[in-house]
Amino acid sequence: MKRPILFHVATRIGKDNRASSLITAYTPTLEVCPRTGGNRTPGHTRMKPRKNYPEIKPTFVTAKELTPIGSGKRTIANPIEDRMYPLMSLFDLTGKVAIVTGAAQGMGRAMATALSEAGAQLLLVDRNAEGVHNTADKLNAKAAVHDISDPAQVRELFATLDREYGQIDFLGNVAGESIMGAPEDISLDDVEQVWRNLVLGRFCACQEAGRRMLKSGGGSIVNIGSVASVTALGRGHIAYSMAMGAVVQMTRELSTEWSSSGIRVNAILPAQVLNPGLDARIAADPLLKDKFLSGIPAGRFGHPDDIRGLSVLLASDASKWITGAIIPMDGGNLACNAGGSPRKPK
Ligand SMILES: NC(=O)c1ccc[n+]([C@@H]2O[C@H](COP(=O)([O-])OP(=O)(O)OC[C@H]3O[C@@H](n4cnc5c(N)ncnc54)[C@H](O)[C@@H]3O)[C@@H](O)[C@H]2O)c1
Repeated sequence: MKRPILFHVATRIGKDNRASSLITAYTPTLEVCPRTGGNRTPGHTRMKPRKNYPEIKPTFVTAKELTPIGSGKRTIANPIEDRMYPLMSLFDLTGKVAIVTGAAQGMGRAMATALSEAGAQLLLVDRNAEGVHNTADKLNAKAAVHDISDPAQVRELFATLDREYGQIDFLGNVAGESIMGAPEDISLDDVEQVWRNLVLGRFCACQEAGRRMLKSGGGSIVNIGSVASVTALGRGHIAYSMAMGAVVQMTRELSTEWSSSGIRVNAILPAQVLNPGLDARIAADPLLKDKFLSGIPAGRFGHPDDIRGLSVLLASDASKWITGAIIPMDGGNLACNAGGSPRKPK
C-alpha cells in the first residue's frame, strides 16, 4: 500500500535529495528520474518506471498522487515497514474499482471498508437506502439503492458503474437474506424469492461484471455462500441451503469458464456471523447460542470484520492464482465432524 508522505516533504521534491530518496522508497513502481528529476513545475516531479515495471510510463506526479491512503505524520523511513513494503504492495488496490452488494451493514459494509482502506474506489449497493448512504459517506464512495433480486435493478447498477467509473475490477456479492420454513410447509413463492435473492441476483451481477471483465482482460469476483452451501442446518433452512448450494456450483462453473480470461471467481462460506437477524434468533431461543458455539471449535461467533482480510486478499494480486476456491470462514466449523469434540474455550 502506498504510504502517507507529508505534503511539506513532497514540496521539496527535486530541491532536496533527502526528499527525493524518501519518495523513491515509498513508491513500488516509480522512482525519481535521475536526469530530469528537477522541479519543472512547482509541486511536481518526474518519475521513471522501476526496472521491474516496464509497462508503467514515465510521469510527473504530485504529492497527492503519491499519498492516496492514510494521514500519517511520519517523514522518515521505518525499517520494518520498508522491508514489508514490497510484500504489502501485493495487496494494494489503488486504481481498482469494486462493487459491493449488501454494503449497508454486516459483512458487506466490512468488506467495503477493507477494500477502501486498501485503495479501491467503490460503488456500493443495498436496498437499505439510509444504511448504504451511511457506509458510502464514511468511505467516500458512491451509493446505489437497488434490490439485487431483480435483474433489471442489477443492470441499472452496472449502467451506473459504466457512467461513473467505466471499469470494474472486483465484485463482492454479499447481499442476501432467507425466508425460513419447514420443507413440508414453505410456499413455493418463498422458495423462489430466496432463490432470486441469493442465486439469480448473484448470477446476474456475475454476468454483468464478467461481460465487462472479459473485455478488459480480467478481474476478481467473490460470492458469499454459507456453511449451509455444503452441509445441512435443519431448523427451516431448506430454501436457504438449496440456494447457497447453488452459489458454490455457480462459483466453480464461472471460475472454470473464465479463468483463462484472467477472471477469478471464489466463494467464502461463513458460519454464524453476528448480525441483527442472528441476534434476534438467539434471543428468541437461548439454547441456540450453545448449539451454535458447540459446532465452532474457535469458540466464538464470527464478527463481520472477520471478512476484511479475505476480501482484500481475494480482490488483490496477492491471490493471482487462486480461483474456484471455496473458502470456509467458520472458526473451524466445517472441519469438525458432528461427532467431534471441540474444546470449550478457556
Ligand atoms: N451472518 C451469518 O451468520 C451468515 C452466515 C453465512 C452466510 N451469510 C450470508 O452472508 C451475506 C451477508 O450476511 P450479513 O450477516 O452481513 O447480513 P446482514 O443481514 O447483516 O446484511 C445483509 C445486507 O444485505 C442487504 N440485502 C438483503 N437482500 C437484499 C437485496 N435483495 N437487495 C439489496 N440488498 C439486500 C440488506 O439490506 C443488508 O444490508 C448474506 O448473503 C448471508 O446470507 C451470513
